[in-house]
Amino acid sequence: MTIIFVGLPGSGKTTIGRQLARRLGVPFVDSDHVIEDRLGCSIREYFAREGEEAFRDVEQAVLDDLSQHHQGVLSTGGGSVLREANRRHLHDRGQVIYLRSSPEDVYRRLRHDTVRPLLQVEDPLSRLRALYDARDPLYRDAAHFVIETGRPSVSTLVNMILMQL
Ligand code: S3P
Repeated sequence: MTIIFVGLPGSGKTTIGRQLARRLGVPFVDSDHVIEDRLGCSIREYFAREGEEAFRDVEQAVLDDLSQHHQGVLSTGGGSVLREANRRHLHDRGQVIYLRSSPEDVYRRLRHDTVRPLLQVEDPLSRLRALYDARDPLYRDAAHFVIETGRPSVSTLVNMILMQL
């Protein structure tokens, strides 16, 4: 079985996913890392050179592959739910957990980020609020359950997830 994390950038998908995999003794994979390996460059460079739609095509192919073949824990990029086909595949092939963080919490974690192309704008907090409004229903649509990431520590969140699985 594959446990799949979805949520905004900075919601803790990779950190929590990695710890959960360790606790379960199963492999962990981050789809963004697989995409970068496949592209041979960073997502940021690819976005700048080829544009967002080209990136989404590569992302869809990688998610299709990983959701079918990876056994363990999978963390996905924040835009993985944008395409309906991805939402359906992730939901049907794994146990999908939406890590819900408010845009303000994410902003506090990511305000010095220079890697994520979608946040390299003048007003990243407004951008995050817009991303949240557009994507919250999509994350819910893909997910089997929602974990609120506000206050608890990473290990508490992992314990909460283990109780729900
Ligand atoms: C994106 C989130 C990123 C990465 C890409 C696009 C998005 O992943 O896939 O920059 O659309 O929100 P993280 O959620 O791991 O930052």
